[in-house]
Amino acid sequence: MAEPLGSWRRTHTCGVLRDSDVGTEAILLGWAHRVRDLGSLVFVDLRDRDGITQVIVRDDEARLERAKQIRSEFVVGVRGVVQRRSAETRNPKLATGDIELVAAEIRILNEAKTPPFSITDETAVSEDIRLRYRYLDLRRPAMHANLRLRHRVAQAIRRHFDSQGFWEIETPVLTKSTPEGARDYLVPSRVHPGEFYALPQSPQIFKQLLMISGMDRYFQIVRCFRDEDLRADRQPEFTQVDVEMAFASRELVFGIVEPLMREVFKEVGVDLAVPFQRVPYADAIARYGSDKPDLRFGMAIEDVTGVFRESSFELFRSAAASGGVVRGLVVSRGARYSRRELDELAEQAKQNGLQALVSARLNADGTVQSSALKTAGEMTIRAALEKVGAGAGDLLLMAAGGADATSKGLGALRLVLGKKEGLMARDNFAIEWIVDFPLFEWNEDDKRWDSVQHPFTAPLDEDLDRLDREPGKVHGKIYDLVLNGWEIAGGSIRIHDASLQKRIFRLLNISDEEAKLRFGFFLEALEYGTPPHGGIAFGLDRMVALLAGETSIREVIAFPKTAAAVDLMAGAPSEVSPRQLRELHLTDR
Ligand code: AMO
Repeated sequence: MAEPLGSWRRTHTCGVLRDSDVGTEAILLGWAHRVRDLGSLVFVDLRDRDGITQVIVRDDEARLERAKQIRSEFVVGVRGVVQRRSAETRNPKLATGDIELVAAEIRILNEAKTPPFSITDETAVSEDIRLRYRYLDLRRPAMHANLRLRHRVAQAIRRHFDSQGFWEIETPVLTKSTPEGARDYLVPSRVHPGEFYALPQSPQIFKQLLMISGMDRYFQIVRCFRDEDLRADRQPEFTQVDVEMAFASRELVFGIVEPLMREVFKEVGVDLAVPFQRVPYADAIARYGSDKPDLRFGMAIEDVTGVFRESSFELFRSAAASGGVVRGLVVSRGARYSRRELDELAEQAKQNGLQALVSARLNADGTVQSSALKTAGEMTIRAALEKVGAGAGDLLLMAAGGADATSKGLGALRLVLGKKEGLMARDNFAIEWIVDFPLFEWNEDDKRWDSVQHPFTAPLDEDLDRLDREPGKVHGKIYDLVLNGWEIAGGSIRIHDASLQKRIFRLLNISDEEAKLRFGFFLEALEYGTPPHGGIAFGLDRMVALLAGETSIREVIAFPKTAAAVDLMAGAPSEVSPRQLRELHLTDR
């Protein structure tokens, strides 16, 4: 029953007609969002990516008959004249709500099966069903808005880098392993039996080679692939905004990135203040228990070890005496928390590795209460409250143990409290640089040093002489950009000296032979006049998700994979034919 479009050309989209268009003839093409049949009158809400326009069908019997055949999600064309709606039928919620299109002719361009869920912003349907019918899910206005935002952000990024003299250069997808800490996706070679390409975890080596090539300033919006455990902010293939510059210093990189972020935030109407605050890694861990603290709110971790060093409270005293710490969080006006709320928080604390959570509150009348009042004594509890600057009505939650573990546990609890206290509004943005990272971290399982970032990161000049003696104390020229508690970008100044690069490989327990096998081409390139250089890469999916106020990056990716790395719509991954396996030398059968 589908009718041809014929010579019809769309004159307007479904979101643009206004009161000033009354009397205009228009042809609209779109999807039937909703049909209301009142007998001698039929209303069709016609929808496209721009909005919805009400079409009114009346008078002519044949035309009414045709309108009555329309079901939800049919593709429909309407020619008609724009008319002002009567005062009582105006819809202020709709941009086109002052007008309607009086149909003169209707064409049903295609029919549609009844969709498995309704195409509305609010949907109770499971994410699996949404992903199985992603093309229908994407029809929902909220998804249109997300992909539109993603497009606009990508364009803002391209404009910015172009204006700063960066060239957009593509790097290979079929390539060799790049070490970014995840497993590689491998592609078997048909023409070279037993050999494999790796999909890039990032274009790291190639962008450094481009600096060696004298390209000076490079960027790319590029797909990266990592076979790792998935979470709300991770996909097996994701998009980086990858950047590298020759003769770079950290300040030069920041000077490019901060105005870029201003441009990007303009897309959501936010005027971002620069420069961004800088938080040394050690402070981030000690004060927020995380290398990606959410700074939409304060509630920094306070140290009260000194208060308990001589106290009669055995749990805290012994922690302090054995080189541990006693630390706590102050919840402003938290003294109102009920017994049950405190028990819930203690349970959360336990789940985050803290052995006990001790509460202390300063009541409005000046009295104090604490779960350790008897054992620690009122003086000590008051001293702790004073040390952290607690005011009347405030609550102090304390825990003891090793410094890192205690801060980490309290950091997780801080986020629970931030949410509970409503301090993490999605339209509030806090952005910060984390700087002065260690270059290596000790891998207890394998008893060796690993790179905190990747093996191409340069150590701080002043730490160079510690490399062999105390690798754990060497800092890297590393910086991360954190937005509302998500790491949205990471980068560094690189090693441009071949001999230092070899030394770092050795320190990471990568033998000369292995280095040659894996990165020989790159080590060789470093010897042909490599300029000092550095860069950064953004997670575009994460950035857009945060700007859109979403809690999962799947909401801003057109065709994402599930948490089990499956494409539910296309059915990937899938088995392949024995013949393909044979051709790829993956089976003898
Ligand atoms: P890094 O590994 O920190 O650095 O990655 C850069 C940014 O990419 C995003 N990201 C991800 N997003 C979604 N899903 C994933 N699985 C995923 N993994 C990472 C994060 C992260 O900050 N070559 C270096 C960059 C450099 O040194 O210039 C690199 O890839 O937002």
